[in-house]
Amino acid sequence: MTRIAVLGLGYWGPNLVRNFHGADGARLRFVCDPRPGRAEAMARAYPAAEAATDPLAVIAHPEVDAVALATPVDTHHPLAKAAIAAGKHVLVEKPLAASSEQAEELIELARAQGVVLMVDHVFLYTAAVRRIKEIIDRGDLGTLYFINSVRVNLGQFQNDVNVVWDLAPHDLAIVDHLVGRLPKSVSVFGSAHKHRQFEDVAYINLDFGQGLIAGFHVSWLSPVKMRQIMLSGSERCLVYNDVDPVEKIKVYDSSVTVREGDLEGRRRLLVDYRSGDVWSPHLERGEALQAVVAHFLECVRDGGAPLTDGAAGLRVVRILEAAQQSIKAQGGRITL
Ligand SMILES: NC(=O)c1ccc[n+]([C@@H]2O[C@H](COP(=O)([O-])OP(=O)(O)OC[C@H]3O[C@@H](n4cnc5c(N)ncnc54)[C@H](O)[C@@H]3O)[C@@H](O)[C@H]2O)c1
Repeated sequence: MTRIAVLGLGYWGPNLVRNFHGADGARLRFVCDPRPGRAEAMARAYPAAEAATDPLAVIAHPEVDAVALATPVDTHHPLAKAAIAAGKHVLVEKPLAASSEQAEELIELARAQGVVLMVDHVFLYTAAVRRIKEIIDRGDLGTLYFINSVRVNLGQFQNDVNVVWDLAPHDLAIVDHLVGRLPKSVSVFGSAHKHRQFEDVAYINLDFGQGLIAGFHVSWLSPVKMRQIMLSGSERCLVYNDVDPVEKIKVYDSSVTVREGDLEGRRRLLVDYRSGDVWSPHLERGEALQAVVAHFLECVRDGGAPLTDGAAGLRVVRILEAAQQSIKAQGGRITL
């Protein structure tokens, strides 16, 4: 049994509590939040867990083997560092840390201590993203040309980070997983309207080199909720619409071929458009966070490396950092 403490019981923490409570091989030992009454309320729903308000005391407790952090981003590094130093395995909510320097320190410390450091890039554990990865790796889309991603809705405004650090980690983690290499450069336009301090809308552009470019639109100001990623390749195009309950993935067997030819005695570009079938694969149902928790427990038990390890967390943080620099430079191109 891995004895778990969940730290941070705001919006997301209770989902971790529910999943660890129901997971094989885990015992929910502590639920912790410094906000008065929060942990007690959670422990009433999960009586096997003890309520606590002091995160450092929980981390140091001898009956805690692993810690899951669903706390504000600037607390990820100090809390994860304390946990790793105490020999505890750590699951950290996205983004892994507030800077690449912090992320690198956590990776090095976890390696030295021989503990698991995993970041919750939850979408990588969905049936949809797993299937898209298979489709790309099989070569069905051909050479990737462009990626277009939209993740917008009304709120939820954060107090500690802008919309890039809040929403984009999901899409950046998905694209990092699918493409398998870091972008060469990042250019971002961001703007703060309703928020006093932080950007609430942004357009993030990545150049991966070899002709592949990607654009991400993130916003807290959209009246409609959209979660869509389009991946266009030389052979086919794939659209992943996460809010579609039935056909989340559609593969369009469409492409364009351009050749030089002779038309009425003149050299011309001849463009052939191929518009074929649209195919939607069946996807297994299931909560992605349940798969995250099961994978974390498996890595703790077997000593394996998580799919979303510290290095995956660092890659996303590096892009977020570059995005922040670019926003400050009014969209200037930042080389990674
Ligand atoms: N994977 C996902 O889909 C997903 C979704 C939402 C949020 N998140 C991530 O989860 C984290 C928390 O986000 P949220 O929306 O739940 O924030 P939130 O503000 O709703 O909750 C954070 C909680 O942490 C508590 N807290 C603050 N400092 C603490 C400390 N030192 N120790 C213990 N608890 C502390 C606060 O009292 C609060 O209850 C962020 O990293 C966020 O990016 C992930």
